[in-house]
Amino acid sequence: MNVQAKPIQAGIPAHVPPNLVYDFDYVTAPVGTHVPQQDLARRLAAEAPDIFFTPRHGGHWIVRRPADTVEMFRRPEDFSNDPRYNDMRQWKPALLPVQADPPLLNDYRKALGAYLAPGNMRQLETHIREIARAIVADIAPRGACDFVTEVGEIFPVTIFLQLVDAPFTDRLQLLKLAQGFTRSPSMAGRAAAIADLATYIRTLYDQRRIKPGSDMLSQFLKTRIGERSLTRDEEEGLGAFMLIAGLDTLRSAMSHSFLYLARHPEQYASLVANPAMIPDAVEELLRISGTSMPERAVTHDLEYRGIQMKHGERIIFLLPVMSFDPALNADPFEVNFRRELSQHLIFGAGPHRCAGSHLARIEIRVLLEEWIARIPSFALAEGEDAPMEASTVWTPKKVNLVWPKPA
Ligand code: HEM
Repeated sequence: MNVQAKPIQAGIPAHVPPNLVYDFDYVTAPVGTHVPQQDLARRLAAEAPDIFFTPRHGGHWIVRRPADTVEMFRRPEDFSNDPRYNDMRQWKPALLPVQADPPLLNDYRKALGAYLAPGNMRQLETHIREIARAIVADIAPRGACDFVTEVGEIFPVTIFLQLVDAPFTDRLQLLKLAQGFTRSPSMAGRAAAIADLATYIRTLYDQRRIKPGSDMLSQFLKTRIGERSLTRDEEEGLGAFMLIAGLDTLRSAMSHSFLYLARHPEQYASLVANPAMIPDAVEELLRISGTSMPERAVTHDLEYRGIQMKHGERIIFLLPVMSFDPALNADPFEVNFRRELSQHLIFGAGPHRCAGSHLARIEIRVLLEEWIARIPSFALAEGEDAPMEASTVWTPKKVNLVWPKPA
């Protein structure tokens, strides 16, 4: 279990009062047989302050409630992702746009928006469906698969390769590179992973400089910030972050969603019987499948809701548990595909809100549609307890599924 109720004082700065100290390691994923994020949300609501300080990972703040999160995300002048406020995250290259503050952030977002806009993503849907269909057609006759490695990893990486027009044979290398970042518990490990990602992306950019195409990297090369083009570091920081942002998050959200459906066959049967419910179900599945926990650094000594925070202190936002906050949803612990509006913050909020959320939603919906078309019922394999992996993205390690083989 990743939570201890016992308060500790060792390693706690003098300005943090004992009533705001709570021992919690955000890198250890929550466990539970229904919806793990939900079990953790219940426990934190009962035991932890809204904003607390944990001595783990060198000591940092944790925010667990939606209103504080939205407010802090909207105040980059006080709570910033710029690496200059956080010694531990001075990566080379800086990951963009996520490590930039406005106004430069707005220029990077424009470059991304031109490519990831909902209209563009909808045009990709046919390709996305072909990829999903091929993956499901391959595994359906076998009657069994490990969803995480055979679908959750392969599907998004194949789409990403299309976005950057890289060869399909690169997929395992790419997965390893992206996971080197999200699975590394140490900042040094993450810095090394970023350098490797940048090297991979650099080769692709060099090819696009000679022969531009209509892919995402060719678009980034055309980006202008005022009078200038992007620097090499900016190009590589944008490309490297797209990989980190779009692979492990999706693998994880899809694996959580399919794990939930395997454990709740009656909910899956309702979708098989009524596929028109799928888009709403996707939103509710996303709500309960939160994975990523962004962070910010305090830019100057300040007081927030009576709490003293000091320049350079880290704040981690527990977005996955916020879906179960009564401030966002009535009956938050009920998983209801007919919910009028499934409110969540799993894509963040404010100026850094996820630029890939349209693509993420399309990928999950299309996969579910193709899965339903071929696999009318499925369950967790006997004895499978779907262990979680320690990572900065909460994710199941394996989800072994079984279903009746087609005649
Ligand atoms: C279910 C899957 C996904 C989840 C849960 C997710 C979650 C998030 C979150 C929480 C943020 C905000 C980070 C912050 O505030 O510091 C974010 C930002 C971002 N995401 Fe996603 N994401 C997903 C899929 C994707 C995909 C598929 C892409 C692109 C292909 C993508 C691209 C981005 C980008 C570019 C940003 C940075 C935006 C900025 O800093 O302005 N994401 N994502």
